[in-house]
Amino acid sequence: MIQRTRLIFVTILAGLCGALTPIVLLGTRPLSFGRPTLFSDNRSVIPAFASAGHWLAPPAVLQAADALRRLGLPEVPAPAANPLTQEKIRLGRQLFFEKRLSEDGTISCAVCHDPQKGFADGRTTSVGVRGSKGRRHSPSLFNAAFQSYFFWDGRATSLEAQSTEPLRNPAEMGDTVEKAVARLSRLPEYQRQFRDVFGAPPTTENLAQALASFERTILSGGSPYDRYVAGEHNALTTGAVEGMELFNGKAHCNPCHQGFNFSDGLFHNLGVGWSSNSFQDLGRFEVTGVFKDKGAFKTPTLREIFESAPYMQDGSLASLEAVIEFYDQGGNPNPHLDRLIKPLHLTREEKAALLEFLKSLNGSH
Ligand code: HEC
Ligand code: HEC
Repeated sequence: MIQRTRLIFVTILAGLCGALTPIVLLGTRPLSFGRPTLFSDNRSVIPAFASAGHWLAPPAVLQAADALRRLGLPEVPAPAANPLTQEKIRLGRQLFFEKRLSEDGTISCAVCHDPQKGFADGRTTSVGVRGSKGRRHSPSLFNAAFQSYFFWDGRATSLEAQSTEPLRNPAEMGDTVEKAVARLSRLPEYQRQFRDVFGAPPTTENLAQALASFERTILSGGSPYDRYVAGEHNALTTGAVEGMELFNGKAHCNPCHQGFNFSDGLFHNLGVGWSSNSFQDLGRFEVTGVFKDKGAFKTPTLREIFESAPYMQDGSLASLEAVIEFYDQGGNPNPHLDRLIKPLHLTREEKAALLEFLKSLNGSH
């Protein structure tokens, strides 16, 4: 569980070059974990942030290439028009937990992307305002910063573009972005904070920028796997090492789940959701209209994967064991099945080793 996790080590370095301002490094837990509890009373003043000022006070050095490299991560990309600053991250985090962004005041981003549930929601498919059921499973947000496409079908191409979509989705926060912005604007504390951070009142654009900035801090690295790769040979158990070899060999996982973030960033058809000769969800095809994209979905990261069951875009696989069985049998054959998906014929021991490897991508083990 998150509490136990060594995930993203607390590395608050107090003072740089003798300066009094503490510095928070990207990739550190205090930046993205911890619920701003004082939100529950729905007041507009959030004293937690005032008292937590020790890490919130500007200026701050956020990108620290060395620290990120030690986690097995590259620098966190951010668009030139929306550089990461600590105040913006703070505001974005606050907004991430802000239920008043939703039409009925009950749903925040964190309801479906709960830090305690691997930034997912533990449900098969998500539930938004007034119990409305979404058609897809809420994905974990870990390392979203490093992706180029967002949503299972990749319909958004930046976190800025993605982050206001849930506000207008009737099955999520169920409103218009304009109305949500107007609600924020009526709250003096938000007026003040947006002015401090952006020099302007809340707008669709700066709301998106603040949310995207917070999302860029939800990082996972420094797992046993990363420590093993960095040369710490006993960081992985024998079983996990064997699982890693299978992952890159007999089980053919790595052509798609490749690189430091275990994703090629592309879309593949595994046959999830194919039944009675049709797809429940056409996936990438809905965006491109290209025939071969029918039933194809984005390859998700596998970091922290143990935290965010159930799995797949429709949440149809309840456990990692079920995911391994699914791949072992060759996915779900359909006319668009990716050519990389084939029956694997793994033994029971090999399946167990693969599972052990997947768990080693989790900072809590
Ligand atoms: C009612 C549940 C719900 C709420 C509320 C919600 N999300 Fe999501 N989120 C989802 C689901 C479901 C998806 C996948 C949708 C799809 O692929 O079509 C998703 C996808 C995403 C993604 C894409 C991740 C990826 O790997 O592609 C990001 C980022 C994200 N949400 C951030 C947010 C933010 C920021 C908010 C608040 C403004 C928010 N979500 C509110 C359920 C929710
Ligand atoms: C052809 C590319 C491809 C290969 C090969 C592949 N995957 Fe995947 N993986 C995907 C895609 C795409 C998804 C999402 C599919 C969906 O939801 O329909 C996925 C989803 C997953 C998930 C669920 C992630 C989540 O957040 O729900 C896990 C776990 C996983 N894969 C592990 C593996 C393992 C282990 C292997 C090797 C046995 C493997 N994958 C091989 C592309 C691939």
